[in-house]
Amino acid sequence: MKWNLFLLLTLTFFSLMIVSSLKAQQVFLYAVPPEDQFGDVTLNKHATSDIGPVVFQHWLHRAKFTCRACHVDLGFAMQGNGTGVDAKSNRDGYHCGACHDGKRQVGGVVLFKACVPGRVANTNDECSRCHSSSRTKHKYSYKEFTSRFPKSKYGVDWMAAEKSEVVKPVDVVEGISIQKQRMKNRPDMAFRPYMEHFSGIRFSHELHSKWNGCELCHPEIFPTEKNNPAAGITMYQIAQGRFCGACHLKVAFPVNGCNKCHTRGPDWIDGPRWLM
Ligand code: HEC
Ligand code: HEC
Ligand code: HEC
Ligand code: HEC
Ligand code: HEC
Ligand code: HEC
Repeated sequence: MKWNLFLLLTLTFFSLMIVSSLKAQQVFLYAVPPEDQFGDVTLNKHATSDIGPVVFQHWLHRAKFTCRACHVDLGFAMQGNGTGVDAKSNRDGYHCGACHDGKRQVGGVVLFKACVPGRVANTNDECSRCHSSSRTKHKYSYKEFTSRFPKSKYGVDWMAAEKSEVVKPVDVVEGISIQKQRMKNRPDMAFRPYMEHFSGIRFSHELHSKWNGCELCHPEIFPTEKNNPAAGITMYQIAQGRFCGACHLKVAFPVNGCNKCHTRGPDWIDGPRWLM
């Protein structure tokens, strides 16, 4: 009898250990979406049978603009459906409508217009470029658009793409980004190239500021008031979307590419979808 109880307790203890370590390992077993869908965000707060959900593609837009231009100057949240984009805000020239107004030109192309009142989204080709419906015909396909871009395990290698200048994202949305404010965001501070106090972590403050400005990280993701805002970070928190995970799960290269951040460790660990 005593032996049985002991066995039971031991078994329970070890199964709990296994379950909790599986939980902690979830990050190492993160299943990354297919590369042509990596970074896609579905906006569906207003979707009905007449108004299809809108899929916003980062791969197309980030080739043209920096993260900062949209997420700071235009105020898009770093969370799907977090901004409150709707037909009216687009029509009034905010959100998607800040660019997609039927007038603005980018690279010599006049941008198609968002959310014209009095039309039904599902029966109009122009609407369905954003609102998915049976009529959806996209001008761009991931495969063609990125065919000349350097690729990595997870899709486009955006670092290499910028280095070789196949993409040159601009940091301004003409008429919206405030020149004076932008100057203030770029003080000539001494950047530390690597976070030495992180054991073997690569992090370039300078490059990240070029893409994100300061405001995307400070103070929300990394509070600056503490001496060492990045101390005590764990992979588990990153896998929950905090700290580096705010970008490196969904839009920037995913955490599966271990030695992109760690100076040691495997190149890549992928996992089965059932764990997600
Ligand atoms: C053309 C504008 C634009 C650019 C450029 C852009 N984003 Fe976004 N981003 C958006 C929009 C729109 C959303 C969705 C917001 C919403 O649904 O409210 C979004 C959402 C996100 C999310 C949340 C995704 C999710 O599934 O919850 C992350 C993370 C993100 N962006 C990071 C980035 C990073 C990093 C860059 C630069 C490499 C970038 N974005 C460039 C417009 C942009
Ligand atoms: C900073 C400017 C900017 C903002 C903001 C922006 N876009 Fe775009 N978008 C572009 C540009 C530039 C293109 C390329 C247009 C072209 O070449 O025809 C584009 C293209 C697209 C396309 C491709 C259509 C196709 O036929 O392949 C879709 C879909 C799209 N945008 C949706 C959105 C949505 C949804 C939002 C808001 C959540 C948004 N965009 C916000 C600049 C922007
Ligand atoms: C550049 C992308 C884009 C284009 C083009 C576009 N829309 Fe939208 N529209 C959106 C986004 C994003 C939302 C918010 C989606 C959500 O959260 O469900 C939206 C929402 C709506 C809504 C929901 C109701 C509301 O008050 O928000 C209606 C209706 C609508 N659009 C009509 C249209 C019509 C009609 C057209 C074509 C003339 C059109 N849209 C073209 C991006 C676009
Ligand atoms: C991708 C996110 C990110 C961006 C963008 C970013 N930072 Fe940081 N910042 C960090 C992290 C992580 C740390 C902690 C690293 C460390 O302690 O060395 C940090 C630390 C700091 C610190 C305090 C630690 C120190 O160096 O003494 C200051 C001040 C700071 N950042 C200012 C800025 C300014 C100014 C900008 C824009 C030019 C900026 N940061 C852009 C992530 C970012
Ligand atoms: C986006 C950058 C990034 C990527 C990619 C990444 N890590 Fe980490 N990792 C970190 C940071 C930041 C820490 C915190 C380091 C510290 O505090 O010293 C960390 C810490 C860790 C730790 C220490 C234990 C813990 O949880 O804090 C382990 C183990 C680890 N990572 C393993 C991995 C493995 C395995 C992969 C690939 C599947 C990976 N990491 C991918 C950024 C990353
Ligand atoms: C605000 C969004 C954001 C946050 C937060 C962020 N990154 Fe990044 N990071 C990016 C983007 C965008 C790139 C460009 C490459 C890409 O998109 O795949 C990048 C690239 C990198 C690179 C490649 C740089 C190179 O020189 O090759 C490393 C390493 C990296 N990040 C580490 C980190 C670490 C470690 C953290 C957390 C301390 C972190 N990042 C937090 C957005 C972010």
